[in-house]
Amino acid sequence: MPAIIELSSISKHYGSVIGVEHVDLSVADGEFLTLLGPSGCGKSTLLRMIGGFEVPSTGTILLSGLDVTHLPPQKRDVNMMFQDYALFPHMTVGQNIAYGLKMKGIGKAEARRKAEAALELVGLADKIDQQPHQMSGGQKQRVALARAIVREPKVLLLDEPLSALDAKLREQMQVELKHMHDRLGITFIMVTHDQTEALVMSDRVIVMESGRIAQGGTPEELYERPLTPYVANFIGTTNFVPARITARDADETHLDVAGQPLIARFDRVPEGDHVRIGVRPEKARFLNGSVSPGNALTGKVSEHIYHGTSLRTAVTLRDGTEFYVDAMLPFGMARAETPEIGSEVRIGMEPENVFLFEGED
Ligand SMILES: Nc1ncnc2c1ncn2[C@@H]1O[C@H](COP(=O)(O)OP(=O)(O)O)[C@@H](O)[C@H]1O
Ligand SMILES: [Mg+2]
Repeated sequence: MPAIIELSSISKHYGSVIGVEHVDLSVADGEFLTLLGPSGCGKSTLLRMIGGFEVPSTGTILLSGLDVTHLPPQKRDVNMMFQDYALFPHMTVGQNIAYGLKMKGIGKAEARRKAEAALELVGLADKIDQQPHQMSGGQKQRVALARAIVREPKVLLLDEPLSALDAKLREQMQVELKHMHDRLGITFIMVTHDQTEALVMSDRVIVMESGRIAQGGTPEELYERPLTPYVANFIGTTNFVPARITARDADETHLDVAGQPLIARFDRVPEGDHVRIGVRPEKARFLNGSVSPGNALTGKVSEHIYHGTSLRTAVTLRDGTEFYVDAMLPFGMARAETPEIGSEVRIGMEPENVFLFEGED
């Protein structure tokens, strides 16, 4: 797919504060891309620069091959949906949506027709003459979306579009927004600090850390092959345990973890011998005493944490590290079937599911 947006060495500094630092990023036409990271990592700043609401300190922004770095928002084929929806309270829904079109010199009748079509697309065709205050949070969110797409931008920018909604509605809107993207066929760039949202909605996720890109990839790539502990911990949960490399084979790394041997089969092996392993709680399981030894760590059960659909068991390894094991609670499985607190257990894991990271200084 051709790139619709090309960011080269984009930085934004506010005095001594770094908003964004040296970001290189290419966005494919039609892609649903998400910028993910904790508060203050530079997501909104990067998005605002793409939208033209902020001028980069350094670097260039190409839109469909054209340098738009210093063009104002209205001169770009890009539209932004704001966090707080920014609907005009004294205008009807239809007027809110048609407003931007009138600014562009489009006649009243045609503006109304386009507003109707946009509302149809977000499932609110019958609400065109209502006032924003008569609408629920989810409906306002859809109106804001209709207003953002009515001008048919090539790229839609969404800054935390679902953050004002309650959990249930947010979950529903995640899927709706994704379907909307598929129907419209335009490029979406979304900002969120919610990893689930990013995984559920995006074709590709860019994880940001202190103004820089920590890692970019499909949701599966980021989840299955995080490059750093930061990414492994920001997306999903990861158990980290200090380890020492005892031997390096072509495709296997032999480790000593809390005095026990363990094998990892990971595509990147750190240089030094003092490393950290990372294991997802749901990729570990308790081994039954009678089966063959397997790739396992021994520890003592310290706590059960009930999650409804799953049970998290905290195990204290021999070196004192706390290690979580998640087990789904399928139909009919009782909590009583999980190992008791205080009992000695062996935690088995496939070598493919053992991440390897640099050790801590
Ligand atoms: N207008 C501004 N003036 C000064 N500092 C700013 C401004 N906008 C953002 N920042 C700083 O830049 C950094 C990134 O902010 P932002 O992009 O809003 O983060 P995010 O959207 O990831 O929460 C933060 O340290 C923030 O305080
Ligand atoms: Mg923000």
